[in-house]
Amino acid sequence: MKNEMRLTLVSIPSNVAVARIAVATFAASQGFSVAEIEEIKVAVSEAVSNSVLHAYPDGTGEVTVRAIHEENESGRGELVVEVMDHGTGIGDIAKAKEPGYSTIPEHMGLGFSFMESFMDSLFLESQPEKGTLVRMVKRQCRQ
Ligand SMILES: Nc1ncnc2c1ncn2[C@@H]1O[C@H](COP(=O)(O)OP(=O)(O)OP(=O)(O)O)[C@@H](O)[C@H]1O
Ligand SMILES: [Mg+2]
Repeated sequence: MKNEMRLTLVSIPSNVAVARIAVATFAASQGFSVAEIEEIKVAVSEAVSNSVLHAYPDGTGEVTVRAIHEENESGRGELVVEVMDHGTGIGDIAKAKEPGYSTIPEHMGLGFSFMESFMDSLFLESQPEKGTLVRMVKRQCRQ
């Protein structure tokens, strides 16, 4: 059965933990393992942190987190996590995904690398001044 969660938050740093805990609880309720949940938590934190830090340079806005659990074609459970904002957008997606690339000097530029390594797939859609959508998929090892 398909299950879905949607949460819209103000883009302030304390809401990164709110999003992380909400998605972790949702994943746990769908039977994901502790190890899988730890990886999902890192990926969600990185994506939401990006909306908090980069999307609204002149203030705050909204960040929406959506989690969907369903079975894929081969009957395996998978979690789709979407993190969406309506901020500045990313001009050059390929560059933003490069490990070590950051537009904030004191940052490591590793957020997208973590998302890519901890989830099974990462998809990015962004338009200048319209916002950014990050879609990540985590496949479930056991049912
Ligand atoms: N939601 C977003 N809105 C606007 N720009 C973004 C967004 N997410 C990422 N970016 C851009 O992509 C770059 C790379 O993001 P990434 O998460 O890999 O590194 P970082 O956030 O700069 O540093 P770190 O995640 O290591 O603290 C950012 O520096 C920023 O310029
Ligand atoms: Mg980041």
